[in-house]
Amino acid sequence: MIVLGISASLRNKRFSYKNELVEDLKQIKDLEELNKFVKKQIKITFSDIDKLNKKDLSFEDKYKQLKKHKGNRGLSNSETALVYALWNSLQEKNIEIDYLSLSNIFESENSEKLDHFKKKFLNCDALLLSGPVYFGDRGSLTQRMIEFLNSDKECIEHAKKILYAGLAVGAKRNGGQETTLIFQALDFLNMGCKVIGNGHDTTAQYGGTIVAGDIGKAVDDNYGIKTALSTGKNIGEVLNNINLNENVSKKILKRPHKCSIFVLQDNKDEECSKVINSVLKNYKNENIKFKVFKVFKEEVHKCIACDICPISYEESEKYRCIINNKEDFFKKHHNEIIDCDSFIFAAYSGTNFINIKTNYQQFIERTRYLRRDNYLFGRKLVSSFILSEVNSNRNLHIRILTSLIRHHNILFKPILVFKNANAYINFENIKKQFIDFCNTALKVRNKTTEVEYKPVGYEISLEEHLNRKKTTI
Ligand SMILES: Cc1cc2nc3c(=O)[nH]c(=O)nc-3n(C[C@H](O)[C@H](O)[C@H](O)COP(=O)(O)O)c2cc1C
Repeated sequence: MIVLGISASLRNKRFSYKNELVEDLKQIKDLEELNKFVKKQIKITFSDIDKLNKKDLSFEDKYKQLKKHKGNRGLSNSETALVYALWNSLQEKNIEIDYLSLSNIFESENSEKLDHFKKKFLNCDALLLSGPVYFGDRGSLTQRMIEFLNSDKECIEHAKKILYAGLAVGAKRNGGQETTLIFQALDFLNMGCKVIGNGHDTTAQYGGTIVAGDIGKAVDDNYGIKTALSTGKNIGEVLNNINLNENVSKKILKRPHKCSIFVLQDNKDEECSKVINSVLKNYKNENIKFKVFKVFKEEVHKCIACDICPISYEESEKYRCIINNKEDFFKKHHNEIIDCDSFIFAAYSGTNFINIKTNYQQFIERTRYLRRDNYLFGRKLVSSFILSEVNSNRNLHIRILTSLIRHHNILFKPILVFKNANAYINFENIKKQFIDFCNTALKVRNKTTEVEYKPVGYEISLEEHLNRKKTTI
């Protein structure tokens, strides 16, 4: 399986088609060697710039001279982040890597360059996109690539069969790396890609978030590098757990796949639940069993943000949240909640809250004990199902995305039904999208290895976690 790393900076150094970055990375055995390689490449980048600085040239002329280089050495910040992620995905089994610089494609386009880009894209099983943050969003090279992908039929088809993860480099901490990653994730979801963030070992859940302003600075951002490494590892791991090219139409499972739909918010006519029921009625697949939870009608206690979540070290089947109210939804249904292979969070999105019943926010926050129970809700294909009045603009599909990526799930394009007056304008299209979700869910192999949750950013929780571990071993 091929992970294609794309760097989207105008400062890219490895822009030649024949640069040897992939070969170089394949030779590198460990992280120490990788750090040395990156530092050496950055020195080369500086020496190239130093040579030009010694000449009396304008910035524009220096820029032109740099572009005349062979494009086979040095690293920009975006490329540095990508190198860490690509190398780490290569450490996972069955993974090959490929590399492409966008500056050589979209800075001044021609048909030969576009063909080259397309060939690489059509050959990949996953895309790792690394680029600079410009004004809290992507730069124009990434934007042009997204426009191109969306305008080419073969690329549009291929996008549905690949995984996507992103890395964003900004000059400041909180410079917009996360907003860039979220907007990009939405674009790739819309194209049909399955989207993931980084792994469980770092907290920057949306992908790689690197701080680097001046050329060569990315290598100094240890935390950012960790997030890049983790994103690369995650893409390799998930690729090994999903076969997006599999034909599932003739598949017969030993036990049916379990898909749960949690309706977190609905109106008084329970319209969102009804729309879901009619979608389910229309869809027959013996391989899938659906369970619909009308969470909006239940009692869902707020999370009290305790330091000892989950409250003990026992088997996952045992309910281990501190909330002990007998009527609480999680307390009552814990076993059923965790017994699923894929799930959808559904909601009615109105222009106001008159006649709306909601447990949306409480439900989302209470899933914390599942996350802290070694990601019980993780590694599953997930999506959102929103019945939205046309002018509601509440962005629930984006909020669900940003919450679910925290569970380390595989995201599927949001399913959005638009309601205008009493008509559901895109209902037919939504039925197809739902079938596509189900077929994709069948392609995900269920979590093979358990990952251990480690509290990050909570000293008390970490101490408690280590103490409990000591006493249970
Ligand atoms: C037009 C422009 C806008 C930028 N906007 C942001 C920003 O919003 N936030 C931020 O952290 N950095 C911003 N930067 C800084 C770049 O993201 C940063 O220099 C990064 O290293 C670029 O990656 P590169 O070196 O691989 O090109 C901006 C830079 C430029 C040129």
